[in-house]
Amino acid sequence: MEAPSPGDRARRLAAEALAADDPTGWFERLYRGDQTVPWHQGGPDPFLVRWAADRNLDGSGNSAGRLTAGEEVRFARSRPAGLTALVIGAGLGDDAEFVAGLGFDTVAFDVAPSAVERARRRFPDSTVRYEVADLLDLPADWRFDLVVENFTVQSLPVGLRERAIAAVAATVAPGGTLIVHATYRDPAVERPGPPWPLTRSDLELFALEPVTVTQIPEPGHPELATWQAEFTRPG
Ligand SMILES: C[S@@+](CC[C@H](N)C(=O)[O-])C[C@H]1O[C@@H](n2cnc3c(N)ncnc32)[C@H](O)[C@@H]1O
Repeated sequence: MEAPSPGDRARRLAAEALAADDPTGWFERLYRGDQTVPWHQGGPDPFLVRWAADRNLDGSGNSAGRLTAGEEVRFARSRPAGLTALVIGAGLGDDAEFVAGLGFDTVAFDVAPSAVERARRRFPDSTVRYEVADLLDLPADWRFDLVVENFTVQSLPVGLRERAIAAVAATVAPGGTLIVHATYRDPAVERPGPPWPLTRSDLELFALEPVTVTQIPEPGHPELATWQAEFTRPG
């Protein structure tokens, strides 16, 4: 018999965990034992890479402070220690490594201990601080200049949406920037999750100042359209 695809395996583990009222338990089972995870792209998120390149993003402290849109990143204030970044639901660590490579002092967390262990193993010389943590129970004092939220909120059931989004937003420091990449959902269309994609009104729950919010269509595949958004918390 053929082995199940990573997507089929993920759906089965998710269904079992959700039936047991454990919305995050399946992630650990999915990452355990070096198995392929369906969302792993083998490199950083192309949207994040493009966004950073468009701004010559530099977190090293040569130019520090509030991230603003524009041809170049201009920082409002000097901070010799450089800028901090947080990667939410960091999985196998590619986005975290990318952000750290731009000079950010980076923390990356995931609820699945095996994901964290695999990220540390993949990048043994990394400067990233990889931690096991639950988005729904983060240290109250976590505040970062740059926060990257790629596809984590949508991996939690809709009943947890407000809490999950508020938890992401709470980690953005005054003057800080949040980058969100998520699958788009038309509010008129219901689909069983996971994932549970985000509607336009979900994005408003971040309650931060939008800089750009773009809906990227995927011709012929409406279920693959995405949101790419940048928010800031006024300093
Ligand atoms: C769809 S994957 C996306 C992974 C990665 N951000 C990416 O874009 O490739 C969602 C990730 O969020 C993690 N996750 C889900 N719920 C979480 C929670 N409550 N706290 C922390 N991490 C969580 C999962 O373990 C998984 O690695």
